[in-house]
Amino acid sequence: MAMSAQAAQGRSHDRRMPLARPKRIAVLGSTGSIGCSTLDLVARNAERFEIAALTAHRNVKLLIEQALRFRPAFAVIADESHYAELKSALAGSGVEVAAGMDAVADAARRPSDWVMAAIVGAAGLEPTLAAIERGAVVGLANKETLVCAGDLVMAAIARHGATLLPVDSEHSAIFQVFDMERAPAVARIVLTASGGPFRTIEPSQLHSVTPAQAVAHPNWTMGAKISVDSATMMNKGLEVIEASYLFPVEKERIEVVIHPQSVIHSMVEYVDGSVLAQLGTPDMRTPIAVALAWPERMAAPSKRLDFATLGALTFEAPDFGRFPALRVAREALQSGANAPTILNAANEVAVGAFLEGHIRFLDIVRVVEETLGSMARAPLLSLSDVRAADAAARENARRRLAALPRPA
Ligand SMILES: NC(=O)c1ccc[n+]([C@@H]2O[C@H](COP(=O)([O-])OP(=O)(O)OC[C@H]3O[C@@H](n4cnc5c(N)ncnc54)[C@H](OP(=O)(O)O)[C@@H]3O)[C@@H](O)[C@H]2O)c1
Repeated sequence: MAMSAQAAQGRSHDRRMPLARPKRIAVLGSTGSIGCSTLDLVARNAERFEIAALTAHRNVKLLIEQALRFRPAFAVIADESHYAELKSALAGSGVEVAAGMDAVADAARRPSDWVMAAIVGAAGLEPTLAAIERGAVVGLANKETLVCAGDLVMAAIARHGATLLPVDSEHSAIFQVFDMERAPAVARIVLTASGGPFRTIEPSQLHSVTPAQAVAHPNWTMGAKISVDSATMMNKGLEVIEASYLFPVEKERIEVVIHPQSVIHSMVEYVDGSVLAQLGTPDMRTPIAVALAWPERMAAPSKRLDFATLGALTFEAPDFGRFPALRVAREALQSGANAPTILNAANEVAVGAFLEGHIRFLDIVRVVEETLGSMARAPLLSLSDVRAADAAARENARRRLAALPRPA
């Protein structure tokens, strides 16, 4: 497959033979929330998987611990200042070590049967592309890769015969219920959103919410950046853009509904009125297991749904006044060209500044919208165009942030 999620589904029949040897897994971003959940599944299925490569950014202590436990062929720390510590801790272990972003891409490029793309942000683009360019099967958690370079990534997938399997819980849900062989029969995709920690807070209080409050997601435990994106609902905007690349549906037919319980992970409606949904408890080990075992299924330790005690599943329309990020992301998708790249880059900078206490919560989306509005649209024909648009948007957003008052 894939190819993409689309093609992956169509080809699943070709791959029903169990592997004679364990699947060798490379985990890009192994020290993060998704990376650790992936390793948890690998540890529980030691006969089925082995680790080929692990990469981290700065958390060298956890990377060392993981490398000593899983014994990959290759362990990489992106921040070169931690190389000496990694090297000395793994001396004599048989694990080859390296540092720097080129080495992270090298970890993706080296042979493995399956690559987990779980780096956060646009930093994940080039390593993910490196895996795609060798025709790898890639589990994609790193949605920013598709947001900032979707056309180039999809073209590379087609050119190199790679397979992209969605890991984001919403896209995994759609992947499981979208009949790719009858795509024209799909009337719409409905992405569910929990609404995050500020769904019901008084709008007047939003200006003073703290990073600690923003990362305290009611249903999911995730890394800091995606948690803040969930609080602004930019995460859902990024997911609409991600879905527009993964599934053959016009972007206008990708909708969002608030579903605070996070039990239905997304839905597909067909032209006959049938709606197929995927349900489960909010535990990323389920969608990771779907992608890891694809096209088979594997056991995951996620808590089971207890329908008798579940109570009500509720839905409401998103409040675009409270969550302008959804509107801004949709506009960027509609504009196309470099707009999603600018959106993503400005958002990464603004979220980073908010987490460091430099700006207020409501400034995040304001800065993203102003950055988008101030930059001209231009096509992205190459990776260097993407890099240039990303760098210019970061610089533009940083200038705007510097002019803002600091939170009290
Ligand atoms: N967490 C979830 O439940 C969830 C659900 C759906 C989708 N996703 C997506 O999955 C991706 C990862 O999310 P997460 O929550 O796992 O994030 P996270 O906990 O922050 O982990 C990010 C990982 O990427 C590494 N990393 C960060 N910056 C890097 C850089 N510049 N170069 C190389 N490596 C870098 C980190 O290394 P260090 O630990 O050394 O910093 C860590 O291993 C994101 O794109 C997110 O949107 C996450």
